[in-house]
Amino acid sequence: MDAMTFVLFGATGDLAKRKIYPALYNLYVDQKMPKAFSVIGLGRRELSDADFQANVEKSLHEFSRQKPEEASQIRDFIGAFRYCSLNNTKLEDYTRLLQLVEQREQELDIPANRMFYMSVAPEFFEPIALNIQESGLGNTKGWKKLIIEKPFGHDLQSARELNEKLSNTFAEEEIYRIDHFLGKPMVQNIETLTYANPVIQALWSNRYIANVQITASETVGVEERAAYYDQSGALRDMFQNHMLQLLMMIALHLPKRCTPQEIQYKKKKIAEALRPLTKENVASEVVRAQYGAGELQGSSVVGYLDEPGIPAGSQNETYVAARLWLDDPFWSEVPFYIRTGKRMAEKSTRIVIEFKSPLKTGHESENTMAPNLLTLEIGPGESMSLQLNAKNPLNQGEVEPMHMTFKSGERNVPEAYENLIFDAMRGDATFFAHWNEVELAWQWVQPIQEAFAAGAIPLDTYNAGSGGPESADRLTAENGFRWW
Ligand code: BG6
Repeated sequence: MDAMTFVLFGATGDLAKRKIYPALYNLYVDQKMPKAFSVIGLGRRELSDADFQANVEKSLHEFSRQKPEEASQIRDFIGAFRYCSLNNTKLEDYTRLLQLVEQREQELDIPANRMFYMSVAPEFFEPIALNIQESGLGNTKGWKKLIIEKPFGHDLQSARELNEKLSNTFAEEEIYRIDHFLGKPMVQNIETLTYANPVIQALWSNRYIANVQITASETVGVEERAAYYDQSGALRDMFQNHMLQLLMMIALHLPKRCTPQEIQYKKKKIAEALRPLTKENVASEVVRAQYGAGELQGSSVVGYLDEPGIPAGSQNETYVAARLWLDDPFWSEVPFYIRTGKRMAEKSTRIVIEFKSPLKTGHESENTMAPNLLTLEIGPGESMSLQLNAKNPLNQGEVEPMHMTFKSGERNVPEAYENLIFDAMRGDATFFAHWNEVELAWQWVQPIQEAFAAGAIPLDTYNAGSGGPESADRLTAENGFRWW
């Protein structure tokens, strides 16, 4: 692993505290950090190095998977951190930053490898990239890379503009667009599951698969993010990025050579195969809804419109479901159903593959038998489960579904941010969103955004604590299926 300087924009923010510092620390403990590195935290407020280091240490005690115990180890880790106050839009500040970066590179006697990480509000993405370029920070003799958080644009046009601006400073191979769902262990396992298991690989097409369902239900509501969420809604917040990424991951057929480029190429092929929605059919393929008041885990919770900071009469969706088709030889005629919502009965992200039932044995229970299902539980907790049919000796030998479930007992597995930061450091872009994918995903959701804006799709309601709006059942029922 190359020695490097990790330059973090948004160092006093929530994500840094909850995810990024713990991730760096766990990589450090697991000996996955370079031998020599420094972290330079940037934020608006004035902070001494010592105070910054103390804040970082506090975040480790609070949020790290492996709790810091050995004082000397923490000291060594924290000792790599420096702070520099910076106004993201002020070029002079970047000159000071460059001096600090160079000074640290000299002190450690390391090459000028620079990892820039944008964990800031999206309006700062462009000015930061520009200032990195203008100040000379980006003219380095070593490598430079950029890790960027979502949202990557708020529609096709703005995403293209942002990409254009970033590309003046960073080449595509230098940009690592984070979609933290791609860092989740079960999502990282999908490719292995399909290429390392002939049994699964043989079944991975429309010959055997009846439909695919991708669900991300959450119990949380808008939390303290009303200003952001009311502009974003479930479509931009979850669907355009996380959900479509999961679809690409589950649908891709693996190339013989599994390089990041090959995987990106295959993902792009899937995204290109998504059958476009039209103005005429968008309302029949998409359901949107907003939560009303309800009971969640024994407590009453307010509806979306009564959440603090939500404007009266907001038409923002907190739930979206859609039926998608891939015009691809492997997947033609297989519906992909996606749904995601806030304030639902349970927190669960999962993918369910429902298999066809081609049995024609004439057995009397044939028509009533449950389908075979392969369920990948992505979180919380990971598991994989196969629903098969078997005779129940305790119930007059009736054929009943049984479940073979594999659940890893291992609690202390690396978290998404650890996996992703590690990959970015070593230059593996497999689990990052390539620009092609982001662009195609925005392109696909564009007719939905337009239909929402024009009020062409009714905004249904569902009770908080429920399984979502009943109207979503139509999407599966029309093809003779149900949600799992
Ligand atoms: C984020 C969204 O990207 O993902 C949040 O902005 C959402 O609204 C979160 O709650 C869900 O992630 P996870 O890892 O908790 O399933």
